Amino acid sequence: MTQDELKQKVAEAALPYIKDVPIIGVGTGSTVTHFINFLADFRADIEGAVSSSIKTTEHLKKIGIPVLELNDVNGLDVYVDGADEVNPRRQCIKGGGAALTREKIIAAASKKFVCIADESKAVDVLGKFPLPVEVIPMARSYVARELVKLGGQPIWRQNCITDNSCEILDVHNLSIVDPVALEILINAIPGVVTVGLFAQRAADVVLISKGNDIVTY
Ligand code: 5RP
Repeated sequence: MTQDELKQKVAEAALPYIKDVPIIGVGTGSTVTHFINFLADFRADIEGAVSSSIKTTEHLKKIGIPVLELNDVNGLDVYVDGADEVNPRRQCIKGGGAALTREKIIAAASKKFVCIADESKAVDVLGKFPLPVEVIPMARSYVARELVKLGGQPIWRQNCITDNSCEILDVHNLSIVDPVALEILINAIPGVVTVGLFAQRAADVVLISKGNDIVTY
């Protein structure tokens, strides 16, 4: 199976989690793109979706699902999103698609965060995938120096302006043995909007497509 087929398979496996859920939180990325394609078949049952990015909003609208503002709904029952890495404690690195801030807000506002990923994303220790950090543009160099002090090698993501008009530093060479502590530390650096560690609020369910199987944890 190709990686894209694995993404499609795991996206389909998330459908039972949105059964009878009228308003769904929807993430961003190529795995979620498959999930949204599947949603088209359930359009009539879905009242609306809260979207984590402009790209996801456009896709949802294209298939006829109303996009709602998070401010206009009283929390969410289920949020479905992908990940760049996920460990056995269901903690993730996210932000490869630069949507980490809105993704983290929606995950926080949701009762259940269902993470969908192909087997290449499952790791024991987070950090091989460069950790995305969204920053206020004027703080970029300062934040980069602080990240070096933490042992990382931040690289400014070129030609990337987030949906919040901010920039991204991708931090290489971190071995993240205590994801919660690092999330708190990086979030506390002035100028950081969001770090792409989803550890304090980990996923509630992780679905991994592995060959023909779906592994759940
Ligand atoms: C976007 C994300 C995505 O969930 C993550 O990058 C995974 O993407 P893909 O499904 O394309 O592999 O965090 O900000």
